[in-house]
Amino acid sequence: MKAAQINNYGHADAVKVQEVAKPVPGNGQVLVEVHASSINPFDSMVREGFLKDTILLNFPVTLGGDISGIISEIGEGVSDFKIGDKVYGQANVVGGASGAFAEFASTKSSQVGKMPANLNYTDSAAIVMTGLSAYQVIYEHMNLRAGQTILIHGGAGGIGSVAIQMAKHLGAHVITTASGEGIKFVKDLGADEVIDYRSQKFEDLVTGVDAVFDTVGGETYDKSFGVMKMGGVIVSMTTQPNKDLSEKFGVSAIYQSTHTSTEQLGELAKLVNEGVVNVRVDKVFTLNQIKEAFEARESGSVKGKLAIKIKD
Ligand SMILES: NC(=O)c1ccc[n+]([C@@H]2O[C@H](COP(=O)([O-])OP(=O)(O)OC[C@H]3O[C@@H](n4cnc5c(N)ncnc54)[C@H](OP(=O)(O)O)[C@@H]3O)[C@@H](O)[C@H]2O)c1
Repeated sequence: MKAAQINNYGHADAVKVQEVAKPVPGNGQVLVEVHASSINPFDSMVREGFLKDTILLNFPVTLGGDISGIISEIGEGVSDFKIGDKVYGQANVVGGASGAFAEFASTKSSQVGKMPANLNYTDSAAIVMTGLSAYQVIYEHMNLRAGQTILIHGGAGGIGSVAIQMAKHLGAHVITTASGEGIKFVKDLGADEVIDYRSQKFEDLVTGVDAVFDTVGGETYDKSFGVMKMGGVIVSMTTQPNKDLSEKFGVSAIYQSTHTSTEQLGELAKLVNEGVVNVRVDKVFTLNQIKEAFEARESGSVKGKLAIKIKD
């Protein structure tokens, strides 16, 4: 089978599509015939070797995490899925799976769930990491409620765009930061107030919010503490809690580490099936175009999610 692999850490041109042996599903695993995947910032980090001091990987490494496809084999001890089930989920080597940018991927059955009934393969793959991240922040860490105000940084991004839809569904007032074409996009998603982060300073315009969802980090994270009310919560996808700022402003700070489970994928699929969450894939690449897909993502020339179509 074909897989997009790296034999060493590097830029997009380090990725090679090569013939490799089809993985064999181990105990508790399923083998998925992968129909689609999508690229997340984490995939670039793995490729560049940013995690090499904390996560030991054996080359060659098949990149990619998000998958959608059809179960083609079942490992021992798996009873919750059967051959032929349409699933979506995670198959990242970092989580002990065989990697998503490949024609087949083996992964723990707990890492997949039934695919949303009303989505195609590319949209399903594109919602896995972004949808689970937004779900865990909005529904679990924040327990966001009707009437509350949330500031979402990076509203036009993969995670931010899902977060806006969930927050609006729960009845919250949504303020978000975006730029360029992203401004119209977040308005169309239902954002109540949009701040152009390239020409405006959110810290001068926002005050007293109940929650901040930070998908950006850096000084955006630090400056967010001053726009919250006492007792508020900031959840960051990128930054560990700053205890000093948290105490100074009387807010709780949480770092989100996204996890995958069949149950959570089921909750996400329910929201997708009910029409609460829609997916926007901006461009679809093939497995052979994986280098171009990484380059497009990293140059910022394509906005929103990039999907990788692996099987027609
Ligand atoms: N901790 C975890 O478990 C976990 C899991 C998943 C993702 N993450 C991290 O979460 C972050 C977001 O992921 P994603 O998939 O949503 O990325 P993404 O699709 O690339 O979105 C990032 C968004 O941030 C916007 N942005 C950049 N600088 C900004 C600024 N100064 N102010 C406001 N917005 C700004 C970008 O807007 P423009 O288009 O205008 O540049 C883009 O829309 C990444 O750093 C990723 O590594 C962490």
